[in-house]
Amino acid sequence: MPSEAGKSLQHNAPLVEAASSSFVILAAIFAAVGGLLFGYDTAAISGAIIFIKQQFSLSTFPEELAVSMVLVGAATAALGGGRLSDYLGRRATLIVTSVIFVAGALICAFAGSFNVLLVGRVIVGIGIGLASTTVPVYISEVAPPKARGWQVSLFQLAITIGILVAYVVDYAFAPSGGWRWMLGLAAVPGLLLGLGMLYLPESPRWLAGHGHNEKALKILSRIRGNSDVSVELKEIQESLAASGQQGHWSDLFRPAVRPALIVGIGLAVFQQITGINTVIYYAPTILQRAGISSASGAILATAGIGVVNVLMTLVSMWLVDRMGRRPLLLTGTAGIAITLGILGFAFLRPGGALAEVAVVTLMAYVASFAISLGPIFWLLISEIYPLRIRGFAEGTAAAANWSANLVVSLTFLTLVESLGPTRTFWLYALFAIAAWIFSYYLVPETKGRTLEEIERSLHGKATAS
Ligand code: BGC
Repeated sequence: MPSEAGKSLQHNAPLVEAASSSFVILAAIFAAVGGLLFGYDTAAISGAIIFIKQQFSLSTFPEELAVSMVLVGAATAALGGGRLSDYLGRRATLIVTSVIFVAGALICAFAGSFNVLLVGRVIVGIGIGLASTTVPVYISEVAPPKARGWQVSLFQLAITIGILVAYVVDYAFAPSGGWRWMLGLAAVPGLLLGLGMLYLPESPRWLAGHGHNEKALKILSRIRGNSDVSVELKEIQESLAASGQQGHWSDLFRPAVRPALIVGIGLAVFQQITGINTVIYYAPTILQRAGISSASGAILATAGIGVVNVLMTLVSMWLVDRMGRRPLLLTGTAGIAITLGILGFAFLRPGGALAEVAVVTLMAYVASFAISLGPIFWLLISEIYPLRIRGFAEGTAAAANWSANLVVSLTFLTLVESLGPTRTFWLYALFAIAAWIFSYYLVPETKGRTLEEIERSLHGKATAS
């Protein structure tokens, strides 16, 4: 017979559970603000650069530097940032990230010379790199298995919202040439991330991995509500015991980790070499080439593409814990290959309805990305690595993503000049076909399983082979 206290606890169970699940959602939303900064800072420069170029009388190379320094900073910080989040903890790393973001945004806004602006851009890049290694891991470690898909995808949703807000802010400040505002406004969400993280708890998995079992149990009970969390903690401890001592770089190449390493780095590179950022960064240029003559028409169509990106990410979040990761990934990647193929054909015949076809096809392309490689890459790399090395293994994949992003962004315009748009889009389509085959054969389904179950199954696969 339950005691009186027990009875009242049972009576209140749904209430406690609801409160705890809204607490986890709040934690996920605040951490996802890191994604907002990621999207905002990578996209805002597309409008700001026009005025920066005028103000500092830049030639092409310094102009490219101002755009791409963020990517260099992000790639470098992603590599080291994972180590930092394994060492300092996810929460502390996100607080440091917020300080870096605010500092970087303010340095850009008040830069008195071009060199200071470049320094500010690198610092902002470091913030983005740290956010991209830590946010998905933090959310995946606090989320319950059955909701982990959509909660980690909040990060991608925030990225897409950040991109859209950047387009709107650029549009609003364009008449006054206010590039300082365009770059400086990123300090606001930067501050929000830090304030949120001051209030939120450390990841219980990180705590258990560092011997703070009591604290881990306390936080787990708080975020899981009424359910019996000792089972979850035991599972975490067993997986820690199975994976041995604190992780090192060399652990990345252990046979047990290799399949996850290949999936993470492979998806990281495919996410970029299928051309998403040629659209996100250069959509107005592509559309003008397709025949939309007015700049404002091209910018408006670009904003439309940004809206599709946000909406289809929401669709993906709704489906990812129901359908699973693989069906979405395979459907979307097929869509990416097909739309890139069509885009290539459309550019074969300039004039006529090319402009309309280009707008519709670009929207279908972004929609395909937004249900698949966009959110699912960031989700999977937060799920598939063993806890001991999760931070820096995720960081390796994120760094590969940023490096591939840099290569594609720097080569796109040159490719279009030398190969022409048709062959350039067909090249990306070929990469998308390769991405489909890669995903079909190598990407595991992680829906509904605990992080520890995923770790065991990938480990089992490696030892069996
Ligand atoms: C990618 C970014 C891209 C964004 C577009 C993210 O998943 O990593 O490079 O700009 O999606 O929505």
